[in-house]
Amino acid sequence: MAALGFSSTTDEVLAGADLSGRLAMITGASSGLGMETARALASRGATVVLLARDRTKLDKAVAALEQQDLPGQLDSALLDLADLDKVRNAAATLLDLYPRVDLLINNAGVMACPLQRTAQGFEMQFGTNHVGHFLFTCLMAPALQASAAAGGEPRVVNLSSAGHRFGAFHFDDPNYQQRDYEKWQAYGESKTANVLFSVALDERLAPHGVRVFAVHPGMIMTELGRHLDEADIEAIRSRAASASGGQADSPRSLFKTIPQGAATSVYAATAPALAGDGGRYLEDCHIAEVASQDGAGGVESYATDPALAQRLWRLSEQLVGQTFSFD
Ligand SMILES: NC(=O)c1ccc[n+]([C@@H]2O[C@H](COP(=O)([O-])OP(=O)(O)OC[C@H]3O[C@@H](n4cnc5c(N)ncnc54)[C@H](OP(=O)(O)O)[C@@H]3O)[C@@H](O)[C@H]2O)c1
Repeated sequence: MAALGFSSTTDEVLAGADLSGRLAMITGASSGLGMETARALASRGATVVLLARDRTKLDKAVAALEQQDLPGQLDSALLDLADLDKVRNAAATLLDLYPRVDLLINNAGVMACPLQRTAQGFEMQFGTNHVGHFLFTCLMAPALQASAAAGGEPRVVNLSSAGHRFGAFHFDDPNYQQRDYEKWQAYGESKTANVLFSVALDERLAPHGVRVFAVHPGMIMTELGRHLDEADIEAIRSRAASASGGQADSPRSLFKTIPQGAATSVYAATAPALAGDGGRYLEDCHIAEVASQDGAGGVESYATDPALAQRLWRLSEQLVGQTFSFD
């Protein structure tokens, strides 16, 4: 088989894998990359719990996957990350139903929306993409630790984005209470938070056998673009073109298909090559380099800085009003 890379698909990443007996939970699984990740994992025998906030949309996604007669079982449950009370209720129910979780894919996300606030008043992108996932993951940690205790080699995958390069995390005003709101800046900061969270969570959970990765899936046409107008899409295209040195056929200027986009999530969740590793940012089915000035991919050092990761952890605990230790 050719080496995995930009064009690899979920099915290519999982070729020959046997995931029977493994349980995966995926947030934001009602469309796009999350739904494809669910399909791919179930196609190799995993039980997959699809989580989403809209029951009608979730049922439609599950029904579409069930039509494919996948070998893995498909379950589903509601999870709205923009309301911490709902996150707590969902986690309590899910922990009862699934005391062992082998793979947690924190995939849900919102991008470049107008200024909105979550139930607890967090800026919507930060609140959904990071704070909701922070609380959900910490609450589900006992189920991941149970997998580790049973030899399950559990992993958490946090969907970040190359958009983390729009900005370092803004510790002084994470919720845009003192700054003018800028939708791309807010998206970038939330995606930086996803990487910093991966670093801090890996440090805490690695001693318990749970490893954590952050992923940039690529550029993929999905419902994520629901808040974009023509000018936004043109700006994305020209940014990608300049990142690729103006070469229209360079991979950096191309959109991926959905199965190509979900491939790096599936790789991070299952690749034997990553055993014993963690706290890393992946793109195109490999561990990314530190970003270079030419904008050709990679991860910014401010997103993997261990001190910043610990600082975000403490802030996140304050925001959710709960501290976590995983003994
Ligand atoms: N597509 C890309 O080019 C791209 C690039 C870089 C990174 N990513 C990341 O990849 C992930 C998946 O995105 P996608 O492209 O597959 O987009 P998508 O099709 O819009 O899927 C996003 C999912 O997140 C869910 N979601 C949004 N807000 C939620 C909330 N408050 N609670 C629970 N679920 C919520 C959505 O549900 P509803 O439909 O009900 O809102 C949907 O199921 C995101 O984290 C995104 O930032 C994508």
